[in-house]
Amino acid sequence: MTGEILTLHVGQCGNQVGQQYWSQIAKEHGIGKDGQSVEPDDPNTFREDDTNPFFRRNAQDRYTPRALMFDLEPKVINDAFNNYPGFFDPRNSWVSEEKYGAGNSWAKGYQEGQKSEEHFLNMIDKELDSTENFEGFQLFHSVAGGTGSGLGSNLLETLADRYSKNILTTYSVFPTDQSEVVVQPYNTVLTLRRLAEESDASVIFDNNALLSLSSRVFRGQQIDFSNSNQLIAATLSSVTNSLRFPSYMYTSLQSLVSTLVPSPDLHFLTPSFTPFTSDYVAHEKEYRQNTAYDVLLDLIDGNNSLVSNKNNKPVYFNTFSTLIGTLDRSDITRAISKLQTRLHFAPWSSSVIHVNCGRRSPYLTNKNIGGDYVNGMMLSNSTGVIPLLENACHSFDKIFAKRAFLNTFTQSGMLSDDDSEFIDSRAVAQNIIDQYVTAEETDYLDDILLDDENMTGVLEDVGGQQVDHEGDNIIV
Ligand code: GTP
Repeated sequence: MTGEILTLHVGQCGNQVGQQYWSQIAKEHGIGKDGQSVEPDDPNTFREDDTNPFFRRNAQDRYTPRALMFDLEPKVINDAFNNYPGFFDPRNSWVSEEKYGAGNSWAKGYQEGQKSEEHFLNMIDKELDSTENFEGFQLFHSVAGGTGSGLGSNLLETLADRYSKNILTTYSVFPTDQSEVVVQPYNTVLTLRRLAEESDASVIFDNNALLSLSSRVFRGQQIDFSNSNQLIAATLSSVTNSLRFPSYMYTSLQSLVSTLVPSPDLHFLTPSFTPFTSDYVAHEKEYRQNTAYDVLLDLIDGNNSLVSNKNNKPVYFNTFSTLIGTLDRSDITRAISKLQTRLHFAPWSSSVIHVNCGRRSPYLTNKNIGGDYVNGMMLSNSTGVIPLLENACHSFDKIFAKRAFLNTFTQSGMLSDDDSEFIDSRAVAQNIIDQYVTAEETDYLDDILLDDENMTGVLEDVGGQQVDHEGDNIIV
């Protein structure tokens, strides 16, 4: 049985993305905007979902997200309560008494987290009282503003310390190259340190890639964050599909992390998704029919990545895909064979291409497509993440060389007057890059024993292909 997962939304971005995410997964479980069950169009609908990992359910059949919302200013959290009346639990939200944002200062956000640490732990413990088999956390935030980065960093430290046995994952949004605010590179690098040190796996989203993807997917529309957030929500609903529509494999956060993360130093994952049909995004575009073969190959096209990838030939350590729709096993095995010739895997990696045949919710009926179609998501652990990290470090170096704007962080004792926090964080960020570069080498994992059986479950040979017991996942 999949354990319960607690989701934390921090800052404007973390809470706005969160609203889209909950809206998407509630729809997939037939839960209305007020938390009440919605009758399916077809009364004979057979349900295969498990709402328990992400929702509490009360005796009146009302569902409540296992989610906590944190922000220094009230607007976005108020919007969540107004847009989804009765859905989120008001006891699970926190807004600072001052009701001002962190003014893009990581230090201010971090300090607010320190001040309220006990209160936050109480909120979390209360929510955990309703779990029986608690598995872990997922934290949504941006690394560039003050609250998502600073308060988010503080929360990550607290969670890693207090709940060290549970999995800690993040969905972290990186800023565009044209930083809207000069201190964003400081916030980003200070937060990167916490992602490196505290999280078990961080899925990265990049507003550069999200902007260009949005302008293609929502062609002709005025693009804003709500478009990007629909793309993120679609991707995350697929990331969590195997937890919410469980079959035999990938039914726990732990199994997803061990599939994708070969060593704690390599835990930055880049997502891609295609195609964005109206099951996921609100628009009326026509899509042609496709197959699992088309989709799996499209997933390695940089245009479908949610992180700009300037590295044309990334070296892969692991991939995990979820395909949803009308899936033909032979299409998948053909695509995997093709991918194995196209993807360049690190010599020490198992070169396994993990494909999960996900379940489509009966509540999703794409009215635009007459026949069979497939949606796909891929999470990759590869050197493709290096340009984004280098970019963040480069932007940091430019302003830090002049010690520019440091007073925003050091004033009123928010951070110590010396530069050690900045220097240490920059060193940690560099170490992530160095680890990814070194991991291309043959002997990278010499001292780590990989137990393939634990990673891939019990396999059997069917017609020359490795498949799991129930035949619903393919691993080659
Ligand atoms: P303060 O405003 O300083 O209190 O911090 P905050 O964490 O609330 O700030 P915010 O979340 O707005 O972080 C700023 C960064 O997040 C910038 O890079 C924005 O472009 C980005 N951002 C803000 N809202 C969204 C959103 O809804 N979606 C996406 N994709 N990015 C967002």
